[in-house]
Amino acid sequence: MDIIYIQNNQFQLNTLNTSYVMHNENGVLCHTYYGQRLPDMDHGYMAKRCRYNGDFQSNISENVPTLDNALLEYPVFGDGGITHPALEVLNADGTNFVDLRVVDYIVHNGKPAIDDLPASYCENGDKVKTLEIKTKDEVSGVEARLFYAVFYDYDVITRWVKITNNGKNAITLLKALSGNIAFDNKNYDVITNFGTWARERQIERAPLLHSGAIVESNCGSSSHYANPFIIMAEHNTTEHSGESIGIALAYSGNHKMSANLSRYNVVNLSAGISPDNFRWNLEQGESFSTPELVISFSGNGLNGLSQNFHTLIKNRVCRGIYRDKKRPVLLNLWEACYFDFTDETIKKAADSAADLGIELLVIDDGWFGKRNNDHTSLGDWNVNEDKIKCGLADLCEYVNSKGLMLGIWFEPEMVSPESELIKKHPEWVMQIRGRKPTETRWQLMLDLTNPEVCDFVYDSVAYVLKNTNIQYVKWDYNRTMAHIGSAYLKAEQMGEYYHRYILGLYGVLDRLTTDFPNVLFEGCASGGGRFDIGMLYYTPQIWTSDDTDAVERVEIQYGTSLIYPMSCQSAHVSVCPNHQTGRTVSMQARHIFALTGSFGYELAPEKIADNDREYIKEFIKFYNDNFDVFQSGKYYRLTNPTNDDFAVFQYVYNGRVIVGAMQMSNHAVNLQNTVRLKGLEPNGIYLNKATGKKYCGSQLMQFGLPLNVCTGKNDYCAFVWDLSLCD
Ligand code: GLA
Repeated sequence: MDIIYIQNNQFQLNTLNTSYVMHNENGVLCHTYYGQRLPDMDHGYMAKRCRYNGDFQSNISENVPTLDNALLEYPVFGDGGITHPALEVLNADGTNFVDLRVVDYIVHNGKPAIDDLPASYCENGDKVKTLEIKTKDEVSGVEARLFYAVFYDYDVITRWVKITNNGKNAITLLKALSGNIAFDNKNYDVITNFGTWARERQIERAPLLHSGAIVESNCGSSSHYANPFIIMAEHNTTEHSGESIGIALAYSGNHKMSANLSRYNVVNLSAGISPDNFRWNLEQGESFSTPELVISFSGNGLNGLSQNFHTLIKNRVCRGIYRDKKRPVLLNLWEACYFDFTDETIKKAADSAADLGIELLVIDDGWFGKRNNDHTSLGDWNVNEDKIKCGLADLCEYVNSKGLMLGIWFEPEMVSPESELIKKHPEWVMQIRGRKPTETRWQLMLDLTNPEVCDFVYDSVAYVLKNTNIQYVKWDYNRTMAHIGSAYLKAEQMGEYYHRYILGLYGVLDRLTTDFPNVLFEGCASGGGRFDIGMLYYTPQIWTSDDTDAVERVEIQYGTSLIYPMSCQSAHVSVCPNHQTGRTVSMQARHIFALTGSFGYELAPEKIADNDREYIKEFIKFYNDNFDVFQSGKYYRLTNPTNDDFAVFQYVYNGRVIVGAMQMSNHAVNLQNTVRLKGLEPNGIYLNKATGKKYCGSQLMQFGLPLNVCTGKNDYCAFVWDLSLCD
């Protein structure tokens, strides 16, 4: 077994269950195969079939070929292909073509870092190797190094490209995607997420047509609207059977992912930074690295594909002490008091939260400047002493004395028009000179392309963390970019704005997470508007949505789980009637479905009724006792909550099994009354701790668990099973 097997101009990348094969044909790097694991051997006949698929023009072995029908790993604008190029260069002579030919390759043990960008990583003992294929255009001197990191045990391959201008003249990149994969169409459906504020990551599945499918964001962030991933699933692939390929971009800015079907029914799947309003100047000797593209194949249905992404993201993207450490059960006070609080409110909440088992109390928006509503003070990160009279450090001490950690909200990338910061530094605002900058939620954006502004952002957060014992930061971002421009960048750099902004953000996050390794950073962007692998590198959990209604959350968390692990999705129990929908749902349902995330609360603890307090205490104990199951267990989606009467999830970890179910709609006669479990030992005996009943694994997987516990009850009745494998 070789992780990277190279022979006869073929590169075979092997993971435990998959193989990704390419071939070098006369210097052109072509895709050969991606799917179930193949033996290490010659796959030349596959390469031939790719080449001569009925088009007389496609003969790569000619000296200067057009590549109309080749399955290319990194198509270039102007190569004669009709597929969407991954690279487009503006040469000094005004032309756009570069002819990238393979000149060399190296195999690295482990995985090199990617310049200035978040990326998956490996640790000692991991079976990870990286293939670096060097391609070059002899005429212009442009070089593109294509990297393929192979995570053997994870069934994941990641790709990125480093482009270097080794020519004599400056060039401009007009498009530089992270990769392209071309393969035969197997009657594919395209699965994507769309969404909006409070309704993030809804799943859509539709057949791939020749008109193609595009997932893109040009609003400056990865967005609520189009999460940066695409899954291609064969039409008959279900949750638990059949083949699928997923690609997800580790990037938090503008992106474009597309699936195209050629006239020969070849699929081209590509992804990277959106080329719209993208330009990157490369002087002689300069390089540009693309974000990383995470790729996986599964033959075990969509759930199997999700598990591959989950395992990689939670173990080899998320970092810091909270990657493995139990996440604290937090209580965020936003829905409890919005902007209306004082230090006394916080102290009262701490008094009341302590004996519930809450571990971390979070002060949300409103603690700084003159911030009594959302019209002012972003940028003035000094404590509002009218509200927090005792100061943050003392307040923190008080909360700590109750046995709780204290956390705090920031929206560091923004500035209010009504703020001290803007008076001092109007030039720090993202704006087009001579035009009035756009406002959203009464806020403007800071220009993170300017290193001075990045230092200010770092200092604002670092000052609070240095001078208090605050141990958690909620990093919010509540608007989209518009009318972009910068007083710092030169006119010829303006096309670099979007990407430079994201590099500025990553730089600040990198410094903060390095300098404050014990602080838990949680991402947020008006809820889940920047939920991507790039952010998860810095913030191991992200506030999934501002919609805290348990029923709506079932669908949002379900859609998010296609790629992202449950432990990365913050999920809170809030009060009823719910503040976003007005819906009332039982305590049980709200708690059980917050288990499909990093668990917490969004309410005023002192207002909880006595009997509910007892329930909460017991539930937190249950969560704490089983934290490793939720953090490290395999997650199974057992039903589709959009179509089925029940939403049912399952975790399996070291013989422990937790199943949660919610009746999405009640009927006089309920039709679905069993759910079949997954991933158990067929001959193992599983004990239901609550009832003392025992079941055989194969019974639970073949016949299932009865769901009729809810018969005669209301919509949204929910329950949980806690099973464990007997010795
Ligand atoms: C955003 C966040 C909320 C809350 C508010 C505060 O909307 O998503 O959770 O922090 O900002 O203004």
